[in-house]
Parts: sequence; C-alpha cells; structure tokens
Amino acid sequence: MIKFKFYIIFSLLIFSLGETVHAGSEINELKVINLQTEELSMIMTVGKDSTVYFQYFGRKIDDASPYLDKQTYRRIDYGTDPHGYLAAGGRSYREPALRVTHSDGDLNTELAYVTHQQKELTDNNVVQTIITLQDKKLPLVVELIITAYVKENVFTQRVNIINKQNKSVVLHNFYSSYLPIRAKKYYLNSFHGAWAQEMFIEESLLNHGIKSIENKMGVRTTHTENPSFILSLDMPLNENVGDVIGGALAWSGNYKLNFEIDEFDILNITAGINPYASEYRLAPNETFHAPEMIYTYSTSGAGGVSRNLHDWARGYQVYDAQTIRPTLLNSWEGAYFTFNEQTITDMIDDAANMGLEMFVLDDGWFGNKYPRSSSTQGLGDWQVTQDKLPRGIDYLADYAINKGIKFGIWIEPEMVNPKSELAEDHPEWIVKADGRPVPTTRGQWLLDLTNPEVQDFVFEVFDDVMKQSDNISYIKWDANRHVQSVGSAQLTADAQSHFWIKYIQGLYSVYERIRDKYPNILIQACSSGGGRIDYGALKYHQEVWTSDNTDARSRIFIQYGTNMIYPALVTGSHVSAVPNHQTGNITPLKFRFDMAMSGRFGMELQPKDLSEKERAFAKEAIENYNRIRDIIMEGDLYRIISPYEGKGLYAIMYVSKNKKRAVVFDYCFEYQGRTRNSQSIKLKGLNPELDYKVTELNVEKSGFWGNKKVFSGEYLINEGINPQLQKIYDSAVFILEAE
Ligand code: GLA
Repeated sequence: MIKFKFYIIFSLLIFSLGETVHAGSEINELKVINLQTEELSMIMTVGKDSTVYFQYFGRKIDDASPYLDKQTYRRIDYGTDPHGYLAAGGRSYREPALRVTHSDGDLNTELAYVTHQQKELTDNNVVQTIITLQDKKLPLVVELIITAYVKENVFTQRVNIINKQNKSVVLHNFYSSYLPIRAKKYYLNSFHGAWAQEMFIEESLLNHGIKSIENKMGVRTTHTENPSFILSLDMPLNENVGDVIGGALAWSGNYKLNFEIDEFDILNITAGINPYASEYRLAPNETFHAPEMIYTYSTSGAGGVSRNLHDWARGYQVYDAQTIRPTLLNSWEGAYFTFNEQTITDMIDDAANMGLEMFVLDDGWFGNKYPRSSSTQGLGDWQVTQDKLPRGIDYLADYAINKGIKFGIWIEPEMVNPKSELAEDHPEWIVKADGRPVPTTRGQWLLDLTNPEVQDFVFEVFDDVMKQSDNISYIKWDANRHVQSVGSAQLTADAQSHFWIKYIQGLYSVYERIRDKYPNILIQACSSGGGRIDYGALKYHQEVWTSDNTDARSRIFIQYGTNMIYPALVTGSHVSAVPNHQTGNITPLKFRFDMAMSGRFGMELQPKDLSEKERAFAKEAIENYNRIRDIIMEGDLYRIISPYEGKGLYAIMYVSKNKKRAVVFDYCFEYQGRTRNSQSIKLKGLNPELDYKVTELNVEKSGFWGNKKVFSGEYLINEGINPQLQKIYDSAVFILEAE
C-alpha cells in the first residue's frame, strides 16, 4: 500500500484505511480521500455528518488537506453540496444517481460513509478504492468503486448496490457514477448519427437544466448516440489546448448520461444504465452491479483526451489489444447472398494474391429448409446450405489456409427470421409482448437472451460454427435489429422491466463462456455497422465494424468521430467499389485505400472487378499498410485538420511511442482552387531533436517536393509539410522514419 504514496494520498491528518463506523453516526475525525494518477486528482471528503462529499476532479493536487476546512458559504441545510454518490431522499434534490423504494415503502436514501479500502490490482499502475456507504436508516449498502489508471490518467467508476433488507427493494435509478464539475462554461461534444452515419460530432454550450445522451433500443444502441462524450471547460473544444474531460460507459444496452447544471453553476454528471422502464426489484442479499464509467481529464484539449482513452483501452479494456489485427477481404459487398463455392475460392485466391491475410465469408452460407438467399429467411438455422457449399465450411477454411491466409465467418446468433426452423421450433424464445403483434425489422425477430436456454443456444451456435473447422480464426458477430414490443416469456410479470438489463447480462455471460473456451479467436462486433461501439462490447471483441457505410468520403467523418473515443486498431475500415449500394461518390481507388488504411484495413468488393492496374496498386498499398500498421494500431493519434473546419480538408497522424516513426494521412474532399498549394500542415507529436526521412506511399511518383528528403523534427513541427492536394479526392500518405 505504502508503495502508492505518491499517487494515492489519504488524509494528511489521519491515515485511516478500513476503519468502520456505524452508518449514520457522527464521525469523530474528518477524512479526505485523494485519489491520484500521474497528472490528476479526484478528491472526496467525509463530513461530520458522515456524508461523503465530492470535492474535486482535475489537475493534480498533492496536498488535499485544505478540503477538510474549505467553506463553500452555502447553507448546508439546503442540501446543496455535491455528494460522492448522490442518492434521492433526505436533502438531496438534483438528478440522483441512486433512487430506491425501500422494502418498507420509504423513498429516501441517505448514504453515510462506512469504510474505504484500497488495493493495487496490477503492475504498480492500477489502484482500486472501494468506498462503502450505507443508508442511515435501512440496510442498503453501496460500494463505490473507483479505479485509478496511473500512467493513462484515467479513472473508472462503478457501484455495487447490495440489498441487506429482508424484503425486496425497488431500484429506479442505478447510475454507475455521479461526477460534479466546476467551471464557468461547459461545452459538451457528443456523438450522434444514424445507421450508416455514425459518430458525427455536435458541440453544445450547456445551459441550466438537464441535457441527456441516451438510448432506449436495448440492442444495437450506438447508431443514434454513443455512450461517450468530450466536455470542454470554459471554452469551445480545441484539439490541442484547454481543460477537457472525456467520458465513456462500458455497457452495450440502454444508457443515459445526464448533464445537469444547477443553481451554483456546478455541472452534475450522472452516467450509467438508462432507468427507462427498468425498475429493478432487488431481492434480499442480491447485489446489483452497475457497469463501469470511464473518465479522463486532459489539459491539452481533445487530443489529450483521445490519447489517454486509447492508451487505457489498449492497456486494459479492448480484448487482446496487443495482437496486431490481420488485413482481410470480406465477401459481403463483393458477393452479398449470391455465391457458390467457386465464387468464394476465387475470392480467397484474389485475397491471397493481393497480399491480404484473411478472408471472411459473410452472410448467406447457412439454412437448408429455408436457405439464406436473402435477408428474409433462414436466420437461426446455422447449418451450411448443402447445395450452395457442398463441401462445407471446412473445405473453404482449409482452402484459405492452403493459400496462406486465415479464414473467418459471419454469424448473427441473437436473431431469427420468422421463416426459419428455429422460429418454428422455439416460438417461446422470441422477444414479444403477450397478445401483441411481433414486429419484424430487416425481416427478423430478436431472441430472448434473458432466458438461460437461449443463452445456451447462442453459445452453441458459436461453438458449433467453430467446430466446423479447426481453421476458423475470426467471427463477425452481427446484430441487425433493436428491441421492439418488449416482453419476455420467461420473466415473471413483475420482472418484465428487468428485460433490458438481463438481456445484456445474458449476452455478456455468453461472451464469458465463449472467451473461456476460445481465448484466441478474433471476434468483430458488428451491429448493422456501428450499432455496438462501446467499451462494454470491446471487453469481448477485438474490433468493431465501424459502419455499413464504406464510402470513403463519409468515412472521414465517421472515423474521425469514432477515433475520438475508440482507438484505430478496433475500427474496421474497408475499401469498397464505387458506386456501391451506399454511394454515388466516385472516389478514386487511391483515395479509398488512403482512407481505409487509417484504421484496421480491409477490402470489401469483388476483386475480379478490379483492372490489372488497380490490382497492382492494391497489392502495393497493402504492402505499404503492413509497413505502417503497427504505428496506427499502437501509436499516438494526433489530429491535424478537422473535417469540420469546413475547408474540405482532413489530416491526421500516428506517431510511434518512441517517436521514431510516424504516418501522416492527408485528404482533400472539396476542390481547393488556388488557395491550398502554399499551406503547410504542421506535424505533431514528433521529437524536435530527431531528423525524419519523409516518404510518400501509394504513389508511383510523388508530387511532394520534399519526398524522400530528410527534415528535422523541429522543421516538421513548426513549418510542416505541404503536399499538393488540390482536386477533390486528392490524398496523400507519408511515412516518417527517424534517421
Ligand atoms: C449487416 C452488416 C453487414 C453485413 C450484413 C449481412 O448489415 O452490417 O456488414 O454483414 O449485415 O447481412
């Protein structure tokens, strides 16, 4: 414990770990709890009334002892001072993190400090503090669990709510965290969108009252909003400067993040599972586990927030983040449902010839009574369609291996078409409200994952598919609809409101089983593209399908937004044909490659439709990607020009951790006339004392005057480079290598 004295400093007046007091009694000595990372402090105090007060979150304060005496001059009897975890009842009146109807009908919860404990979780870098609170009258216990990731400057918060009463209590609000912030102005940047238009950024100056980011779709929850935000204090969000808070919730179901500015201009953030229609009856001795809310604070603008979150995600959250993701060809846009064995083996040949590392067989390979020849039938019947692929998956996977590449396959195990053997056999497994029509979306229904039998089924679908061949390395797990007409045949009448939470818990428990049995399989979270982009899903998945929209111009905005919160190694990014089913934008192949190469690279088209020249280009670009991939996946992201600046330009770069290598992506998506030629993009994150050779990739002959020349880091940072991007869809990729 003492090892952490530099980071976690408790009261300088008293150092009292693990002390227990009777909840609600006055405590003799005040306490200060100062949780720290390398650059940040989160400070709470325990007041005389044994309430835990939230004092501070921001740049590090080593000596937190003044908080013991600090006066706010506010009337304490109004209940105005922010708590560590805000419960409804007593004097509190803000949007509560916790709202309970106790077993005796009492609507008040007044949490008092009981004890706090701290432990090191891993490698001198992760420290967990558990502050135990209990209602002053009734035995309801809350464990507020705050984990500090020291080097990454990230704190996570969650709660366990434990019912120690001898009858059930009803939880109405059960947010993971409550965080009060003090600044003069609050600029909230959140992510909104729709299917195929995910993660567009919107900034709003918050005013008094409550603004919420939320979702109520149950499954496939991140198309319209994302459970994450970037909050700039005092000034509009800037990429490089300013105090900025980043937040993200690790939960794949309904969420709600509330931003309430109160009468003292304090911004009160409550974040967690959405209480919408989700009253939770907590049985005696049952514990409610809220998911983790992740926070970081940067003094260097949005860029600092993204880099902190990326480091934390790669270090502690994203499944298997250390493994470099393979490049791949996915069959969907190249073949859709129309293929036979030869189509697939030809695609495998082409993928191998172009130097890709994996082939993924998408939808359309299963169903016999109702073959999956369109989205209207067969979903749920996970047997290979005999007359389409007579030699089965095993043959195709072996074929790929013999060509030197890996094999992956698509499944959508949470869903079912009405026209399927599964729906005929198990009508009781379908999510539906008794006596009401069961609406389809994309011609399909949802299976009820609150039901343990369905959980077993979903696990078995995965397991059975894996058993089809020893050579399956990758599963694309899709989920193409959300919850409508909610209802579960296996939940009792008074537990129907548990559906939303139990569904996701059921899903996660299936993933736990899968990960126990298949720790090395790569799993992509696809949900009609970006419908499941959250840190809850990423705990089990190596990557997401960022969007069904593969148009390179749209991807500028989609990936810019997504990579604000989520690191590039998780964002699947594919080159597709133009025009395709989403776009009429005729972007050049080079522009499409240059865009897709800024994430986890793949292709999703029929390679036969490429000319010889285009194939040769693809081959070379894929080789180039292999050269820069580790920088993108492991390095630091610096955004140079935002596509939102309105100039039709976009530039980002990744810098390796040792700053010896970097890659710069520069795009033009509006005609620049004569204005642009003279402008340089100033590079960031480089070592000013190193010299870098700048080499343009993906070109036969570079138009950049400085190609293959060596520049000092100082020059590149202060002057920059000025590639000539002028025409619409001009683009350039550079690798920088220290001499
Ligand atoms: C969803 C996915 C696509 C593709 C299709 C197959 O829309 O997002 O990538 O897999 O399903 O039906």
